[in-house]
Amino acid sequence: MSDPSGGPATRHTDPVLAHAPGDTRTATAAFATGPLHVDADRFLAALRGLAQIGGDPQGGITRLGLSAEEGRAREFLQDLAEKAGLTSDIDPAGNLLIRRQDADPHRPVVLFGSHLDTVRQGGWLDGAYGVAAALEALTVLVETGATIDGFEPVAVGFANEEGALVQYPFWGSRAMAGSLDADSEKIVDREGRPAWEHLLSAGGEPERLAEAVWPAGRIAAFLELHIEQGPVLERLGLDIGVVDGIVGRTIFTCEVRGEQQHAGTTPMRDRRDALVSAAQLVARVESLATTLDACSTATVGYLDVSPNTVNTIPGLVRLNAEIRDTDAARIQVGERLLGSMAEHVAQASGVEIDLRVSDRSTPVRTDIGLRSVIASAASSLGLSWQAMPSGAGHDAQIIAARAPIGMIFVPSKGGVSHSPVEDTEARALVAGADVLATTLAALLGGGPVRRFNALPGDEARGLLIDCLGCDGPWIDVVLARRPYWTARSVVTAVRSAVAAAEHSLVISAANARARAGDTRTSLSPESDLEETRKELVTIACRRLEGWLGA
Ligand code: GLV
Ligand code: MN
Ligand code: MN
Repeated sequence: MSDPSGGPATRHTDPVLAHAPGDTRTATAAFATGPLHVDADRFLAALRGLAQIGGDPQGGITRLGLSAEEGRAREFLQDLAEKAGLTSDIDPAGNLLIRRQDADPHRPVVLFGSHLDTVRQGGWLDGAYGVAAALEALTVLVETGATIDGFEPVAVGFANEEGALVQYPFWGSRAMAGSLDADSEKIVDREGRPAWEHLLSAGGEPERLAEAVWPAGRIAAFLELHIEQGPVLERLGLDIGVVDGIVGRTIFTCEVRGEQQHAGTTPMRDRRDALVSAAQLVARVESLATTLDACSTATVGYLDVSPNTVNTIPGLVRLNAEIRDTDAARIQVGERLLGSMAEHVAQASGVEIDLRVSDRSTPVRTDIGLRSVIASAASSLGLSWQAMPSGAGHDAQIIAARAPIGMIFVPSKGGVSHSPVEDTEARALVAGADVLATTLAALLGGGPVRRFNALPGDEARGLLIDCLGCDGPWIDVVLARRPYWTARSVVTAVRSAVAAAEHSLVISAANARARAGDTRTSLSPESDLEETRKELVTIACRRLEGWLGA
């Protein structure tokens, strides 16, 4: 992966080609709807108003998921929505949903937004920015009478994305996607108080959680606007990041049990100091992402030492570790390595270490077609942009199990986030909201080439098979995403899908060779296969380009 934490990022000119460096054609999507601007003053006032909710006396904002403060943030936005002539409600999981007065409940939804909670002493933009911008974008779409055709726009403020109070991140988006742990009674805060109690006091309805699930097919697309939370855009002087993938993350809960004893009378060799062992483990966690390069980041952010007094050898340490990467296989390697590291530390120092995985989210790719529409929206607004991965987790990666997702980043000052000093220039905040509104206008109003979309499923399938002269798994990939695809992205996707299919063909051929005792291990494409592949792709793309008028 390119380094989301600050390494040099490669500049791409076309988000749909973000993983084909060297191909530098620019996006040429037909963009009929043109740029749409939000009301900058109204939007910034809403965002600053949200920042007043959950102010922490020690600095920053502490508006924890499933807390009363998160509930107040929802109410604040509900008031604004009502003033804007919109309607709103809160689902049983605590998610805020904002719709048009005359919303059509039967249409598939284009959903957009982010989360309303923060970490402890967090910043004013992480999450809140995307929700305030979603409300503003919906307001502007309605005010300007933008064409809304085929899809229903719905803005969302998800509950408890961070998992800072009840340690279960992506609570609201998981509830919506149907992936909230059915056994959520076991999900507790650090004092053992269950999630449902917090949800109840925050105005949610634990017994009706199942009703928060949206059926398959209901969400046609999800868009999330967010601050980058890293330094890449600022360093490159770019306005917008078109997110191409989001890291996955495994969170571990760990308990190190040693022996609580007197710090003055216990000889050094007789000790089983839980904190010393925990410290060794902390250093090993870091090494997963540094010396071992097993995953892109590895962090211990929470440590609880007991009894935590100056003259007592610590008997118990609780800690949380997390590892992240855009590659699921690398996360698995990191998980296995950390398991053996914990065993090793326990054996060497005579303590007990209980290491458990408490949460997993998988890395996801954003939708190739939505990337193209976002990039075209940015270009139409005269903004510079680049495709980039996200090192932070986002609700979008949960919704990705249900719908194509797109994400828009704006720069973070100094790359700082999860901190009271998190900030972004007002101009950049407005620019991001403009991109969101413009992207929505294009998706809702038929901006991108929609001829492909307009064809009935069978006809579209037949046409693709006819164009390429062959059937294959790529057809379903193309068909599932077709509502948003520009001519260019259909062509690109078909090209890469055919390439992927051919690649797996090469691998199966190599595996078959291995099974037959042929020990050549190279997976490089055989030349005749490569020739066939190139020819197939070239012919396919020429025919598609002709057909779509790209
Ligand atoms: C979410 O904020 C994360 O930790 O990535
Ligand atoms: Mn966050
Ligand atoms: Mn966030």
